Amino acid sequence: MTATTLVILGASGDLTQRLLMPALYRLHALGLTRDLRIVGYAKEPWSRARFEQHIHKALQSFAQDFKPAQWNRFRRQIDYVGGELTADDLRALKDSLSPATLFYLALPPPLFGTAAEALGEAGFAKAPRNGWRRLIVEKPFGTDLASAEALRQAMHAHWEEEQILRIDHFLGKETTQNLMVFRFANRFIEPIWNAQHIEQVQITYAETLGVEKRAAYYDHSGALRDMLQNHLMQLFSLTAMAPLGEWDAEVLRNHKVEVLRSVVPITAATVNAHAVRGQYRAGHLGRKKLIGYRSEPGIPRRSNTETFAALRFEVDNWRWRGVPFYLRSGKRLASNYSEIAVQFREVPGALPKAIKAGNNWMIFRIRPTEQMDLMVTAKQPGLELSGRPLVLTAPYATPDHREFSAYEQLLMDAIEGDRTHFLRFDEVEWAWRLLTPVLEAWQSGTPDFYAAGSEGPSTQKRLLDPGHVWRPIADNGDA
Ligand code: BG6
Repeated sequence: MTATTLVILGASGDLTQRLLMPALYRLHALGLTRDLRIVGYAKEPWSRARFEQHIHKALQSFAQDFKPAQWNRFRRQIDYVGGELTADDLRALKDSLSPATLFYLALPPPLFGTAAEALGEAGFAKAPRNGWRRLIVEKPFGTDLASAEALRQAMHAHWEEEQILRIDHFLGKETTQNLMVFRFANRFIEPIWNAQHIEQVQITYAETLGVEKRAAYYDHSGALRDMLQNHLMQLFSLTAMAPLGEWDAEVLRNHKVEVLRSVVPITAATVNAHAVRGQYRAGHLGRKKLIGYRSEPGIPRRSNTETFAALRFEVDNWRWRGVPFYLRSGKRLASNYSEIAVQFREVPGALPKAIKAGNNWMIFRIRPTEQMDLMVTAKQPGLELSGRPLVLTAPYATPDHREFSAYEQLLMDAIEGDRTHFLRFDEVEWAWRLLTPVLEAWQSGTPDFYAAGSEGPSTQKRLLDPGHVWRPIADNGDA
């Protein structure tokens, strides 16, 4: 790797301490980023030594395997510059940049546009000869279609789309990446990956966590913006997209956008049939008593923000017409359980009486463990010709396998310039477009309440086709 510089704007903040620095430290420890210089930038007028102290403390708390000797090597890569997000102040970074430089906006979202513009005005968006400049930014990309478009314009004032790497950390998860590999690297999958063979798809991201200390952010966001618009939409488009003719980041993203464009638009008149929102009330998880969302510190007592959202998508194309895609995510549910579950249609024809036709599911599990499960029916050993359900399980983690966090994966990709696992603006735009009628409808009225620690609001059932049931959350995850 040639010398590269990563400038982190917002280097004194939470994202830098909790996620970025631990990821960079680990990559360094593994010898993958020995030539990377890391320059922190924030408004605190700190010296380099003071910044080092700050990072040292953060790594002691958050790094996976903190070792003083390793830290002594890593700290030499770190530098710090203090200043505001103005072109004048940012120019102080000039001598710290390499021909190959990335800027990471680890900033509060309202500052993304300002920072991108100021970096551009400082002349940093223009790549020198034999070099490149990239800008990394992480969701949320706006809070609705109009604000996403305004953000795009601000970013594009100086930066080209190819230079912008939009992070959705779910694209760095093993299961997400495996979706592509498993679907496209196995001959037997593609012929059955369509409406003729698939009955329904359920994508669930259930969390036991509540709003924690994020009241100010979460109460303006809600589950639809926080989880569905981005993370679950990505899992959905990767599940539904067509195989690629060429393995290329642009082709991949074209295919994902094609899926979003094929979703039957939800309208004001159909919102109720396609979307359910919930909010947790007091309840309990095991023996632990949990307070309701409206009693959480910092949450207005009459807040109608949804802590649970479920959607039903219909995709109107040759591959998927007639297959409902159900997506849902919520806080304070019965367990930490996340998966993409694909159910196959029933088999036709006769079977001996003692055999119940297979309830075939292929499940890509994200939590509690990353693994694939294929649910099949096989013969029950014995004299009789009878069947039994079997689960064929393939875990990802094996003793010789090194797991990387989503940030480690994505930072390496960003340094290497591989855009496969980053979002293009039109993906963001189409996701907002699809959800606009739902966001509008949810501006009034109240969410359906559910007890903290439960399966979510009972009204989520109304999204399902006859014969379909939501997969249970309590039985699948860990609490
Ligand atoms: C974040 C959301 O993007 O994703 C959080 O803001 C959520 O509310 C989190 O808890 C879930 O991701 P992970 O990878 O931490 O399970």
